[in-house]
Amino acid sequence: MGVSMRKWIIANWKMHYGPMKAGAWIRAFRRERLPKDLDIGVAVSAVSLAAARASLGRAGVPTLGAQNTFWADEGSFTGETSPQMLKEFSLSFCLVGHSERRIHLGETDEMIAKKAEALRKKGIQPVICVGETDAQKKKGETLKIVRKQMTDALKEWDMEDDSMLPAFAYEPIWAIGTNKACSAQEARVVHEGLRQTLVKLFGERGNEVHILYGGSVDMRNVSEYLSTTEIDGVLVGSASLDPRAFGLLCRSAVPA
Ligand code: PGA
Repeated sequence: MGVSMRKWIIANWKMHYGPMKAGAWIRAFRRERLPKDLDIGVAVSAVSLAAARASLGRAGVPTLGAQNTFWADEGSFTGETSPQMLKEFSLSFCLVGHSERRIHLGETDEMIAKKAEALRKKGIQPVICVGETDAQKKKGETLKIVRKQMTDALKEWDMEDDSMLPAFAYEPIWAIGTNKACSAQEARVVHEGLRQTLVKLFGERGNEVHILYGGSVDMRNVSEYLSTTEIDGVLVGSASLDPRAFGLLCRSAVPA
């Protein structure tokens, strides 16, 4: 079981919001009343990071993250964005290995491992996404699959570095964008399995790694996840697109 830690809510806009709309979202969200005992972040498209950062001004909430990175600092990698470039936006985190990237862009566990380590070196915390397909779930392979994804994603990670830990998001592919959320009870079993793997890899420090749940989280079910000890936060896709509704989701996350 994870040691008691602050829970996270991360908005994942996916491929929504260029600079203009990203700036407007941040300005609208800054007007929302937000619970103090949660850490709230937003994962923004690379082209909109500058606008999001500018609209944020001195505000520390939400923290900013990217949705993807390359692994090299610079070079002949047309179209890619490096951790070095992302660092200029003072990001807190970067998503890595989202299933949409694994599926549509052929992202492999090897690439994900390189990305996670490259981010660590730049002081940007990777939030590594793992999750099984519907077919794998039906075959009873969930734990085997997500544990392998986790272990493979950490193949390059420098275990000696005690200044940073990775974070993970368990996102069952069948629950993403489907309104068929995985119940907190069901997710909890997977989170427990992932925690065991983390403790094997990191020893006691494995208990401090955040494991979020993602997949059809909304303002009605969010408190169920966040009140589950094994679930250290949530990653929210479609329910994060409207800044006011997302503000309400954040307020719904904790008991009044
Ligand atoms: P969803 O997406 O909340 O729209 O299901 C979650 C995610 O893919 O991160």
